[in-house]
Amino acid sequence: MSAQSAELAEILAGLKQPQKMISPKYFYDERGSQLFDAITHLPEYYPTETELGIMLDNIDEIADLVGPNASLIEYGSGSSRKTRALLEHLHELAVYVPVDISEDHLIATARKVRSEFPDLEVLPVVADFTQPFALPDPTITPLRNVVYFPGSTIGNFTHEAAQDLLGVMYQEAGADGAMLIGVDLQKDPGIIERAYNDSAGITAEFNLNMLTHLNREFGFDFDVGAFSHSAVYDPDEGRMVIELISGRDQVVTAGGEKIEVADGEAILTEYSHKYTLEGFADMAQQAGFAVRKVWTDADRLFSVQYCVRA
Ligand code: SAH
Ligand code: AVI
Repeated sequence: MSAQSAELAEILAGLKQPQKMISPKYFYDERGSQLFDAITHLPEYYPTETELGIMLDNIDEIADLVGPNASLIEYGSGSSRKTRALLEHLHELAVYVPVDISEDHLIATARKVRSEFPDLEVLPVVADFTQPFALPDPTITPLRNVVYFPGSTIGNFTHEAAQDLLGVMYQEAGADGAMLIGVDLQKDPGIIERAYNDSAGITAEFNLNMLTHLNREFGFDFDVGAFSHSAVYDPDEGRMVIELISGRDQVVTAGGEKIEVADGEAILTEYSHKYTLEGFADMAQQAGFAVRKVWTDADRLFSVQYCVRA
């Protein structure tokens, strides 16, 4: 089965569930990556600026913990905006390996990073990081691997899937390795909900673009204009629930299959889990990691955490 048909089968399987769902990885075609970039500049979307502020406030300590000659492997690197602060301060980094599913965006970003840091080896990997993928061979043998997973992208996975992913990162970090991860924290639900319901409507466009992506890439015929964006915080689960709601009955076809979507029915496109420090530490521990250091902003909106092998 080709990668394309495996993905189509995965999408159709999600749409056949009683609660229809599509993986958030399908947000990120080129337009989706651009829209996510726009989200990171929105006044309501606190995670990016807050995480960047935490990184800049503690950059020397972070650089000392990472140490010299490390390989920095970034999962879901996007525009590598926060990474630049790291790259400027890390001690003689051996190699930077950004990993992302959004191919054109990754290649363009890697080119930019290379031009800004001409002495650094940059080896981008286009991959779905939830599946096994090969890491490139750097010219300089690194002393250790540091997995960098910013943006609280870990929050887009259920606890079970997040733990599996942390387990893969644990293996990748290796004996003397570490993980530097951004984790969004539980807080006033109003602040969280506003971040996903911005007044400019960019998050709605980002959510709807997933259907445009599926129509173009996989031959679906969603009536995109009939859907609307919904983003609600579930305090019991500590997560944002992001959905697309159909405004009419429609039959969607792809790969010779028909999917009925009822008027008012929701397709789940993303969870964004918010953690307590204890909750994340427990999950990291289940995957083999011990949290060595936690930095937060003064309002405790967001955290950056340095984890080593337990
Ligand atoms: N790290 C950046 C971007 C976060 S957006 C930041 O902190 O701002 C999430 C990124 O992860 C996107 O660039 C998206 O293309 C990528 N991504 C999401 N799911 C992925 C998957 N399964 N495999 C690889 N990349 C993925
Ligand atoms: C990438 N990820 C951490 C973002 C989030 O906040 O969960 C994706 C996003 N979805 C809507 N806005 C931002």
